Amino acid sequence: MLQSPPPSPDTALPDPMRWGGQPIVLVGLMGAGKSTVGRRLAIRLGLPFVDADTEIESAAGMSIPDIFERFGEAYFRDGERRVIARLMNGDRRVIATGGGAFVDDRTRETILARGFAVWLDAKPSVLADRVSRRDTRPLLRGRDPLAVLEELARVRNPFYAMAPLRVSSHRAPHDATVNAILKALGQI
Ligand code: S3P
Repeated sequence: MLQSPPPSPDTALPDPMRWGGQPIVLVGLMGAGKSTVGRRLAIRLGLPFVDADTEIESAAGMSIPDIFERFGEAYFRDGERRVIARLMNGDRRVIATGGGAFVDDRTRETILARGFAVWLDAKPSVLADRVSRRDTRPLLRGRDPLAVLEELARVRNPFYAMAPLRVSSHRAPHDATVNAILKALGQI
């Protein structure tokens, strides 16, 4: 008797048909690897890659830490909402979002309505190791990264869980994460 293979413990497999060629939007906490994985995923799919944080910085003409410092988080979220709405104009592409984007109700609605969201999930301890390599994140400045990430995971994971696909991005190389996404999308 033929048996279907057991589902990978790391990936909740959706029906591949649900992707439908929409923009693929990577969501998840800081340090999950959204930009690195997104760039590599885009190459493998032959699609353009866009980093929403970079687009926000060019639209504002200043860095994210400067936006937070001068205008505050609410102003940043407004810009983020507009930029993501513009990026989701129907063109096929891979989009990496900042960690808070999918938690904003209107941004999340846009992403869920017009794109295919993929949650890159990793434990706070893994994320804390990764983010400690750079000091560019205003939410972490001067604070204990592990404590902040544990709290953000508690608050944000229920939102990320609304993405139709969840892929673990633990200590494995980013290419393993890319392959897990491609497999779930029915592309390999
Ligand atoms: C944020 C994450 C950052 C950036 C901003 C706010 C957040 O992006 O958008 O500092 O709220 O988690 P990364 O997730 O790419 O670090």
